[in-house]
Amino acid sequence: MLVEPLRSLILAAAGSESIRRLVATAPGARGVVGRFVAGETIEEALRAVRGLAADGRCATLDYLGEYTSDEEQTERIVRTYLRLLDELYASGLTAHAEVSVKLSAVTVAGDEGLALRNAGRICAAAEQCGTTVTVDMEDHTTTDATLRVVTELRRTWPSVGAVLQSYLRRTESDAVALSGKGSRVRLCKGAYAEPAEVAFARAHEVDLSYVRSANVLLEGGAYAMFATHDPRLVEVLGQRVRWYGRERGSYEYQMLYGVRPDEQRRLAAEGETVRVYVPFGEQWYGYLMRRLAERPANTAFFLRALASR
Ligand code: FDA
Repeated sequence: MLVEPLRSLILAAAGSESIRRLVATAPGARGVVGRFVAGETIEEALRAVRGLAADGRCATLDYLGEYTSDEEQTERIVRTYLRLLDELYASGLTAHAEVSVKLSAVTVAGDEGLALRNAGRICAAAEQCGTTVTVDMEDHTTTDATLRVVTELRRTWPSVGAVLQSYLRRTESDAVALSGKGSRVRLCKGAYAEPAEVAFARAHEVDLSYVRSANVLLEGGAYAMFATHDPRLVEVLGQRVRWYGRERGSYEYQMLYGVRPDEQRRLAAEGETVRVYVPFGEQWYGYLMRRLAERPANTAFFLRALASR
């Protein structure tokens, strides 16, 4: 009963600068952050990729940052991605890792042209290194613009991945548009606080929308990337891929760093492709708050750890 108000409260705190400062300077902050974030540096991110690769898991790396306020900041983020890709290549890890990019991190005030140019630089570098890029999806006010940029990027780099969020009422029809053969689409439930006009409020409706959209992607021949930790959904998706006669390797499961690692290993040991979303960087606050909002038990863990040394 208390879950929804708590979730809204935590998501509201994600936008608060004073709460961010309070959390960042709390004694136990590092321990909590370390559960969900691989570290602050590229080296730490690469170490996490190596650890995952050791038991057959792949990674998609996210350099944390969103809603940048000036071009200098976006330039710093783009350059970090370029360096990350170089270092992945030099370490022989590009077969195991790709990158995920938030457009709000590589543009200013929603400038689509700048987003396209900067995301394009990252896509070009990824292609040179032999890997791919997935463009994360943010709140519903950005969905159209994000899909426009992805469509444009795909003209040059057809492997660019799109993300759909099953909590949005529009997602099944977006899935139809993106379900062509080889189209890489990550399907997740969605992590932002959205109004009822655009999003399903009940968990059951979000799950049904997820399965309907998964069916559309599987039927259309897309390379579906099932991003969920939900045990019930993972089971249903296993049934759906078999029903559509999909071979292993023509779809994948994705989960977040630090969430259900045993399940990640179990799926990988069964021969499934499993990709772990590995965030790193100093700007971990917004990301951490969204992870806490997903699960009240994480919030209790977080508050206990913050209070301890
Ligand atoms: P749900 O939240 O219903 O959780 C099901 C079960 O999974 C829980 O009961 C619990 O056991 C476990 N679980 C889930 N979250 C947990 C957590 N934080 N800690 C511990 N256990 C947890 N969203 C978005 O809006 N845009 C995006 O681009 C992406 N990208 C993305 C990539 C990848 C690889 C993943 C896995 C997820 C995203 N997301 C995302 C986040 C996604 O939308 C969603 O918020 C989370 O995955 C949680 O939803 P679940 O499907 O796991 O189900």
